[in-house]
Amino acid sequence: MIVFLIGYMGSGKSTLGKKLASRLNFEFLDLDDVVEAEADMPISEMFEIFGEDRFRELEETCLKDLAGRSHLLVATGGGAPVHGKNMEWMNANGLTVYLKMSPGMLASRLRPNKTKRPLIAHLADAELEGFIAKHLASREGSYEKAQVIYDANSMNAQRLDELKNIIQKQA
Ligand code: S3P
Repeated sequence: MIVFLIGYMGSGKSTLGKKLASRLNFEFLDLDDVVEAEADMPISEMFEIFGEDRFRELEETCLKDLAGRSHLLVATGGGAPVHGKNMEWMNANGLTVYLKMSPGMLASRLRPNKTKRPLIAHLADAELEGFIAKHLASREGSYEKAQVIYDANSMNAQRLDELKNIIQKQA
């Protein structure tokens, strides 16, 4: 069984993912880290040198290479579910969990962490929330194909346990 955490940049896929994986006794993988290791360069450099399309190809390859793994929780990149047939593939190969968060909350979490994310690195702080609201709206149709949709706006230890229980019931 593979659990795929999906959601916008900054929604906590990696941070919550690590905690969830340890509660579930699952291995944790960050898909961005796998892609960076495979390309042997940071994602921001990949975008700059090869462009986004090449990044998306490698992201899809790295995702699909996970087929057949078990006891694995994967934090996917925010764009993975919206490209190609990745969302359908994840739904067919594991349990998809969407960490849903408001644009305001995402903006405040992303503001100090823009630089390593090429899609938002160029934005001024004042533009961030407006950009996220539109971009998220364009992605929401894909994210909402997830088998579990969880409100991640106010996470704490109790809600993390609740999410763990939801995952365990479906696993
Ligand atoms: C992206 C999200 C990033 C990373 C890349 C593109 C996106 O991952 O894959 O910068 O398209 O939303 P995180 O969601 O982990 O920031």
